[in-house]
Amino acid sequence: MLHRLRAKYGPIFTLYVGSRPVVFIMDGDLAHQSLMERSEIFADRPRPILATSDLNTNLLSINNTSYGSVWRLLRRNLASGVVNPCKATKSSTQVQRMALDILLKSLKKEAEANGGVVVPVHSIQHSVSFLMTALCFGVALDEDVVDKIKNVQMGLLSIVDNRYALNLLPKVAPAREGDQIESISTPSQTSQSPWDGVTGTTTTVLRELSEEDIVSFCSEFLDGSIWAPCAAFEWIMARLVMHQDIQEKLKKEIRSVMGDKKGQVDVEELQSMPYLKAVIFEALRRHNPAHFLIPHRVKEDVMIMADHHEYLIPKGAVVNYLVTSVGLDASVWEEPLELVGEVHARR
Ligand code: HEM
Repeated sequence: MLHRLRAKYGPIFTLYVGSRPVVFIMDGDLAHQSLMERSEIFADRPRPILATSDLNTNLLSINNTSYGSVWRLLRRNLASGVVNPCKATKSSTQVQRMALDILLKSLKKEAEANGGVVVPVHSIQHSVSFLMTALCFGVALDEDVVDKIKNVQMGLLSIVDNRYALNLLPKVAPAREGDQIESISTPSQTSQSPWDGVTGTTTTVLRELSEEDIVSFCSEFLDGSIWAPCAAFEWIMARLVMHQDIQEKLKKEIRSVMGDKKGQVDVEELQSMPYLKAVIFEALRRHNPAHFLIPHRVKEDVMIMADHHEYLIPKGAVVNYLVTSVGLDASVWEEPLELVGEVHARR
């Protein structure tokens, strides 16, 4: 439907949900104008209309905080602490190694059991879940606990996805009966000693958090950090099987940097692998795990230039970005459906 509306009205148009304007942006130039050049105006998040409100209305989470000091604090905390490769500690490097071991062992076991054939979905999910739960809780959890958390998050994700549809089109999206929301509490059983995970670093920079706030942060972190990387990882592996030439080039680059060294690639070594980075960017363009960004909201009336015309986005409007449409735009990418690592290597 959105593509039909784009063909009729262009890359930006507004729909109304009740009296609330919901703007759709479907091209890269408009996304850049708004999110990069006018970021302060577009950085806010809308309140949920109805659908997700029972999940987290008054709880703190990064993606539903209004633009302001707490918004900045939460992002800075995540970006400069937990996911900052330069802040890697001995324990976080160790947990990465453990996650890699889990992945390799699981792939090997499956290959041996199936005459060399591997469908790596579960191995990837398990290993990424292990890594992210360790970063989240600050401890490496037993693998069966990781599996339980992964399953709860999977159930939660399907509910949230349905409810985002409800937020967008509450009159037409069917409500699901009997949705269950299970809560996660920090498991007490651990196999490693604790270090500073997401909850640890968060508590150092905010007012005292309630237990519900902490559950909300952990749930958001796991939600954001497990499924997108797993989907990206699966697509990259599938593409490397399809494109043996790209696989060969990657192997060459990795060998040239690693030399005779065996084992995990270090963060510093990654800096000398531009082709690897380009292939990851290209795979994210071609197979973006998220069709939409999380909805944004404008805090004042704003005009943006679309096709040489000024387009008004009124104060309070919700703005949705269709990233798949940006990534596959034939007026920007020469062969939008192909995977061409060199495109990003040149940029
Ligand atoms: C392939 C990997 C990933 C992809 C493609 C991805 C994609 C996205 C996208 C599209 C958004 C919405 C941005 C917006 O609306 O402006 C987002 C937000 C977010 N992601 Fe990721 N993500 C990935 C990995 C991660 C990881 C590893 C973490 C945590 C360690 C994470 C945590 C978050 C958080 C907390 C948010 C909300 C931030 C905000 O509201 O500004 N993501 N991600």
